[in-house]
Amino acid sequence: MKTSDLIWQDTQHQILFRLIDQIKEVPFDREILTRLYLYAEHHFSLEEAYMTKLNYPGEEAHVDAHNRFREELISMVETQGDMDSVLQESLSNFLSEWLKLHVLGIDKEFEKFVLESNVK
Ligand SMILES: [Fe+2]
Ligand SMILES: [Fe+2]
Repeated sequence: MKTSDLIWQDTQHQILFRLIDQIKEVPFDREILTRLYLYAEHHFSLEEAYMTKLNYPGEEAHVDAHNRFREELISMVETQGDMDSVLQESLSNFLSEWLKLHVLGIDKEFEKFVLESNVK
């Protein structure tokens, strides 16, 4: 890990990627979706609290992106249909792609802003 990383953010992203990976595990454990939703909420809320505290100019667009992911996760948690390994795989891939783009995109910009602000 580079010393210039925002440690809490980086650690939480790794936990999110691990949870998303567990969706692929057979037999499927539906609990994992709830755990993912709760942890994502914890993570998004923390990022958003920093944005508010620091008057981050990109806050609105960033919160919108989080909200779309929140909705995606809620509908996954609420869907009661049967799951099979193909679905598990595609769900997990979809989520990890989304998270990767988010982490490398607007999360990086936000990280830079926080690191320059001296509030870590
Ligand atoms: Fe993030
Ligand atoms: Fe974010």
